[in-house]
Amino acid sequence: MHILALHGINLNMLGQRDPAHYGTVTLADIDAAMQRLADELGVRLTCFQTNHEGQMCERIHQAHREGVDAVLINAGAWSHTSVAISDALAILRCPVVEVHLSNIHAREPFRHHSHIAHVARGQICGFGADSYLLALRAAAAFSPCARH
Ligand code: DQA
Repeated sequence: MHILALHGINLNMLGQRDPAHYGTVTLADIDAAMQRLADELGVRLTCFQTNHEGQMCERIHQAHREGVDAVLINAGAWSHTSVAISDALAILRCPVVEVHLSNIHAREPFRHHSHIAHVARGQICGFGADSYLLALRAAAAFSPCARH
């Protein structure tokens, strides 16, 4: 089972962003923790981060061609703005899990709407870095090749 974790705009700056919302962990810490969990679960995990919307869309197109089994995505601010990323995700046939460190529904009103939510199997937010581990478990459990 191959799972792709996508990190969008500004997430490379974790560790230097507002700790009240995002804690102090870095993206490298998060990727390492997900990799450890992926090893435990026996799944192959690929992580990718970009600050360029077109590159994010192209990485999603590539995931479609590769036939990955599940995608988890924290699109950052693009979650609230990008129809393009939402359209790219809609091409995928595998489950998509939307993830956020902060609880976007408890923050400013402009963060309450996500363009990712309607193409996602589900959304996990508000658990800090642990959101990613929960999302990875969900992605592994709900991918079509999971043994139920
Ligand atoms: C975020 C929430 C977004 O509103 C914000 O723009 C981010 C991070 C989160 O993980 O909590 O960049 O996606």
